[in-house]
Amino acid sequence: MKLFELFDRHKLPAFHDPFAGGGALPLEAQRLGLVSCASDLNPVAVLINKAMIEIPPKFAGKPPVNPEARKKMGHSGSWKGAQGLAEDVRYYGQWMRDEAEKRIGHLYPKVKITTAPVSFLKLVTGQQSGPVMFMTGKWDATGKVMTWSGTMVDPMTNKPAKFTQKVTVVDNDHHNWEMWGPDMTGKNYKMMEASYTRSK
Ligand SMILES: C[S@@+](CC[C@H](N)C(=O)[O-])C[C@H]1O[C@@H](n2cnc3c(N)ncnc32)[C@H](O)[C@@H]1O
Repeated sequence: MKLFELFDRHKLPAFHDPFAGGGALPLEAQRLGLVSCASDLNPVAVLINKAMIEIPPKFAGKPPVNPEARKKMGHSGSWKGAQGLAEDVRYYGQWMRDEAEKRIGHLYPKVKITTAPVSFLKLVTGQQSGPVMFMTGKWDATGKVMTWSGTMVDPMTNKPAKFTQKVTVVDNDHHNWEMWGPDMTGKNYKMMEASYTRSK
């Protein structure tokens, strides 16, 4: 390609992200009207990019094909952009969800998702920076037991809470570690305990 073609001010350049990952950049390029290409060595990333920038334009302006939308639509429905495709994804996504529930739903417990497990899950999966705990304490007179305490934002309640930890040196090769903090009602309880053994 010659330089004047590449930088023709009357023509938008094409865009290629060779390490596209989740596809944010090619999607934005496409939104701005550029011809957009994406590649990645990870097949999951390729699938995401196909779903975001390759498949939707193929259905641009097309009506949905699911029977319910067709019944409602009559002949006058106008479907802008990916609206028709989105309607089908919603319909068939719900169908798949219902089928999965019918066939394997009994294998899963019925739980109500509240904010507490969600913030705990975020913490475990690293989608929220973990709480930082500042603690102070000291060794007891024997020099074998250290107790310290401090506060942090409890990931279960999202409120500041006091935590206490204790390390007991059993001998040179064995340490015990215990931690106390508030439960969901604020009552203090031992939430963790670990025993360490030096590997030889
Ligand atoms: C940091 S992510 C890209 C994030 C993306 N640009 C965005 O803004 O969301 C880097 C990507 O490069 C891909 N990658 C790493 N080495 C690669 C290689 N040699 N060829 C192709 N893709 C590669 C990884 O699979 C990963 O998806």
